[in-house]
Amino acid sequence: MQISLKKIYSGKVRDLYEIDDKRMLMVATDRLSAFDVILDDPIPRKGEILTQISNFWFDKLSHIMPNHFTGDSVFDVLPKEEAEAIQYRAVVCKRLTPVKIESIVRGYLTGSGLKDYQKTGTICGLALPKGLVEASKLPEPIFTPSSKAEVGDHDINISYAECERQIGAELAAKVRDAAIALYKEAADYALTKGIIICDTKFEFGLDENGTLTLMDEVLTPDSSRFWSVDTYQEGTNPPSFDKQFIRDWLENSGWNKQAPAPRVPADVIEKTVAKYQEALDLLTK
Ligand SMILES: Nc1ncnc2c1ncn2[C@@H]1O[C@H](COP(=O)(O)OP(=O)(O)OP(=O)(O)O)[C@@H](O)[C@H]1O
Ligand SMILES: [Mg+2]
Repeated sequence: MQISLKKIYSGKVRDLYEIDDKRMLMVATDRLSAFDVILDDPIPRKGEILTQISNFWFDKLSHIMPNHFTGDSVFDVLPKEEAEAIQYRAVVCKRLTPVKIESIVRGYLTGSGLKDYQKTGTICGLALPKGLVEASKLPEPIFTPSSKAEVGDHDINISYAECERQIGAELAAKVRDAAIALYKEAADYALTKGIIICDTKFEFGLDENGTLTLMDEVLTPDSSRFWSVDTYQEGTNPPSFDKQFIRDWLENSGWNKQAPAPRVPADVIEKTVAKYQEALDLLTK
């Protein structure tokens, strides 16, 4: 669908359009990026499902901190036909000044966190108890920031001290405390729906008054690892409701993780959509 607003940014997954100097339209496409490479094959309806999951969390967590919504609907800013076509995958948001770090919170040990722990006993410089294994629950959720990479580069885990150096000590503390509060509330809720939120990445921005504001996407299968309570077992890599499914397939295909990615078979695409839909259904029903 052609959108009659000026495109100002095309990310790996989402496209941003200018509405005016304060507002923009964020449209989630069906693109999937894995290992920071965009796959050639879109995942049908993924953008809609992600947007619905994010919207759910933005609303549920709005008592913790402000978010980037302006309160306008897409019908307020687009001709009716265009709005109808993208209404489930687009939101009107404030144009914020991004805080230039990825605010990752981990409640469980896996992925790059597990690798760091196995090498050093720490993640992002934070010491952890001995004897933890794959999928162990951490004593407390931890804030493990990473630096935001330019397009095509991988993000790098950084220490909290480095995070303070990059964005300032005062802002770093606000971001850390907000990220942990959001994670805890969401993880407690998700558990009641049979989902373990292993880890997640938040993005924050500052509004024109300098107020810290939650932006981007929130607690989706693209930005988080979701596990089922039913199949969770410490010491094993639990199957997930998220991008991990397609990442595992790509990993097993022998791909060297440089673009272009291999073509993904139809059944893997279908299963991926089903996983995203299942996450939405479980969380919101
Ligand atoms: N309210 C907002 N104000 C300003 N920027 C925002 C806002 N919400 C989201 N963004 C930015 O919009 C982009 C969304 O696109 P997408 O997630 O596809 O990008 P990406 O490939 O992850 O890009 P990046 O590498 O910049 O994170 C991100 O760069 C995100 O930081
Ligand atoms: Mg992004």
